[in-house]
Amino acid sequence: MNIIKHSLAVLGMIAAPAFAASQVSISIDAGKPGPVINKYVYGQFAEHLGTGVYEGMYVGPKSTIPNTRGWRNDVVGALKELHVPLVRWPGGCFADTYHWRDGIGPQDKRPRNVNGDSVDEFNAVGTHEFFDLIDMLGADAYVNGNVGTGTVQEMADWLEYMTADGGSPLSRLRAQNGHEKPFKVAYFGIGNELWGCGGNMKPEYYANLYRNYETFLRAPANSRPKMIASGGDTTWTDILSKELKGRTVGISVHQYTIAGATWEDKGKDLGFKEDQWISTLANTLKMDQIIKDHLAILDKHDPEKKIGLMVDEWGTWYDEKGAKSALSQQNSLRDALVAALNFHIFHAHAERVPMTTIAQMVNVLQAMILTDKEKMVLTPTYYTFQMYVPFQDAKSLPLAIKDNTSYTLGTTTIPGVSASAARAKDGKVYLALVNTDPSKAVDIAVDVAGIKVKGAAGKVLTSAAMDAHNTFQNPQAIKPAPFSARAAGGELSIKVPAKAVMVLALEE
Ligand code: AHR
Repeated sequence: MNIIKHSLAVLGMIAAPAFAASQVSISIDAGKPGPVINKYVYGQFAEHLGTGVYEGMYVGPKSTIPNTRGWRNDVVGALKELHVPLVRWPGGCFADTYHWRDGIGPQDKRPRNVNGDSVDEFNAVGTHEFFDLIDMLGADAYVNGNVGTGTVQEMADWLEYMTADGGSPLSRLRAQNGHEKPFKVAYFGIGNELWGCGGNMKPEYYANLYRNYETFLRAPANSRPKMIASGGDTTWTDILSKELKGRTVGISVHQYTIAGATWEDKGKDLGFKEDQWISTLANTLKMDQIIKDHLAILDKHDPEKKIGLMVDEWGTWYDEKGAKSALSQQNSLRDALVAALNFHIFHAHAERVPMTTIAQMVNVLQAMILTDKEKMVLTPTYYTFQMYVPFQDAKSLPLAIKDNTSYTLGTTTIPGVSASAARAKDGKVYLALVNTDPSKAVDIAVDVAGIKVKGAAGKVLTSAAMDAHNTFQNPQAIKPAPFSARAAGGELSIKVPAKAVMVLALEE
C-alpha cells in the first residue's frame, strides 16, 4: 500500500504531504543488554542558593508548614516518589566558601554569616540536617568540600567527623551532637569549579592541590567515599586524568543549557517563541558531543576506564530578570524534553557516565519542585524524572532508529525522535521516546528482537503550549497521562504526540 502511495506521490498523482506521515522505525535488541545505567545518573543537586534549601526544603521545626525536624513533609514526600538516589550538597560555588564547623552543634549557637555570593546563611542546615534529609529520602550523599577558601586540615577534619567509627576526637564530637554512628558518604567532591568561583586556578595547580587534599582525606577503608575531582573544559579533563590516576573515580563537568545565544541573553523561561524552543533543544543535544570530547581524552589516559565523567551540574538556565529568588525560574514542557533528551544521552554513555546531578532540586534553575510559603508545585521536569524511575540501575539495550524525522526551524535542524530502551530491575523492557517537533505527531513502529511484544503501557507528558507549566494557582496544568499501544505480529505501533515525552513498559 505504502509503495503504491509512494509511487503515486512521486508521479505527482497524490499530494506529497501524505507521504510525510511515513513511519519512523525503532529496533531494540532485548537479547543483548549493554552497560547498566547507574541509578546515580538520576542524582540531584541541592545548594544553599536562593530558596533552594531554606524555604524550599527546610523551614525549621517551629514552622507552621508541616515538617519533620525542619524538612517540609510535602517536598520530602514528593521527592521520595522520584527515588532520588544521590544528593550533592552544599554547593556549587557555595561549597567554595563553606566552613562545615559553622553547621554543627546546637542550631541557636551557630553563626549567621554571608556565604557564597548572596546567601544570608544562618547555618540551620549543616552536616546532621543534611544526613537527616538523605535518610528520609533513602538517598546517598555526595558531599562537596571547600578547596577555594578552606584548608587541607579543615577538609580532612570534616571527613573524619562524618566517617570515623569511634574513638577519634571528631567522632566523639559527632556523637555529642547526636549521631553516634558514622554517616555514610558515597562521593566526596574535592572543590568546585576551581577554574572560576572555586579560586580561578589553572588545572595544573589544582591537580597538585587535589593530590595534597586527597592524601589527607583519611577514612576507614570500608567507608572512604569515592573522591571526585572538579573538572572544567577538555584541557582540565586532559590534565586531571593524567595527574590523578588512582586518586579519583571521577572528573566532573558542568554543562548548562541556555535558550538564547549568549550568557548575557539566556532567553526566557516562559512566553518564548518557537525559535527558542528549537534553540534550547539543539543546545541541550550538544551534551552528547561534549561527553564524547571528554571521553576521548579519558580513553587516551585511562584506557582501563577507572575514571568516570560525572556531569554534576546540568539543566536549563534562563534569564534571571524578575526571578522571585536567586536563580529561580519557571519550568515548562520544554524543560521536560530537555531532561529526557539528556537522559537518553547519559544512557548511551552509561559505561563512562556513572553519575550526574541536575541543577537543582527545589526552586533553583531546572527544579523538580517550586514552593511559595506553604504551597508546592511539581514541575514538568519532576514528572520526567518520575517517568524515568525504571531506568535507574536498568540494563541499557541496543536501539537503532531508522528513517528518523527531522525537525527544522530556520537554519536549525534536530532529530525528530530521540529514544532509549533498557531492561529494568523489575524484569520489564522500558522504552522512552521524545518527539521534539512542537507541531507534528510522529508514527513509530517498534520491533524488539529477543521478545514477543504484545503491547505497551505507560505515560505521556505533553500539552498544547510549548511553555505549559504548573503554577500555585493551577498546579495540575500539565501532568503525565496514561498511554497504551497494541502490537500486531510482534511490532508495536505508537503515535507520539507533538512535543512529548513518553515512557512505556513493554508487555511480553
Ligand atoms: O548551580 C548554580 C551554580 O552554577 C553553582 O553554584 C556553580 O557551581 C555553577 O556555576
